[in-house]
Amino acid sequence: MNILHLDSSARKENSISRKLAKELVQKLQGQVTYRDISQNMPFVDGIKGAGFIIPEEERTEKDRKLFKFSDELVDELLESNVIVISVPIYNFGPPASVKAWFDLIARAGRTFKYEATGPVGLIKDNKKVYLIVTSGGVPVGSPVDFCTPWFKQALNFLGIKDIEIIAADQLAINDDNLKKAKEAISKI
Ligand SMILES: Cc1cc2nc3c(=O)[nH]c(=O)nc-3n(C[C@H](O)[C@H](O)[C@H](O)COP(=O)(O)O)c2cc1C
Repeated sequence: MNILHLDSSARKENSISRKLAKELVQKLQGQVTYRDISQNMPFVDGIKGAGFIIPEEERTEKDRKLFKFSDELVDELLESNVIVISVPIYNFGPPASVKAWFDLIARAGRTFKYEATGPVGLIKDNKKVYLIVTSGGVPVGSPVDFCTPWFKQALNFLGIKDIEIIAADQLAINDDNLKKAKEAISKI
């Protein structure tokens, strides 16, 4: 089993989402590809089409580097069977670096396409995603959580439907939900 493990907290030490993801990955046991998407995530730029599209012949050296990196991110996604993503809620949504990562993996012709009836996700092989979400005050699944619904929609768009949310939310209030998240992980 190939596991893609992605962390996104800007907190490198004492990050609860990172700790929970580590626990889960150890539990799952498999070949792990790790990427820290909290940093070094460039923004899409120099776009020429209605998507992340720049024709080969028009690509500058900078564009070529960006597409090479995007290909790497897409490849590791396609090669995985299980994806563990840890994400803290920052200002009601995911951290900006997570959006930058997603902008690089949503690639027309590689991870989605448009047909007459609408968009079709090209990731078809029943990947399982565990999404570990932490927050200080926002209850996951509440009307002010724009992180979890965005993630579900974004992954669904690429064809990934099997998404299990593990919430360690409202941690500034008490650690009940941290205990629940740890319990949920121990049962996987
Ligand atoms: C820049 C920033 C913005 C945050 N915004 C929110 C927020 O909008 N809602 C919330 O409930 N918690 C917010 N938090 C708190 C984090 O979600 C919380 O501390 C969480 O545990 C962070 O995950 P980590 O422990 O993996 O670093 C914010 C934290 C930071 C650093």
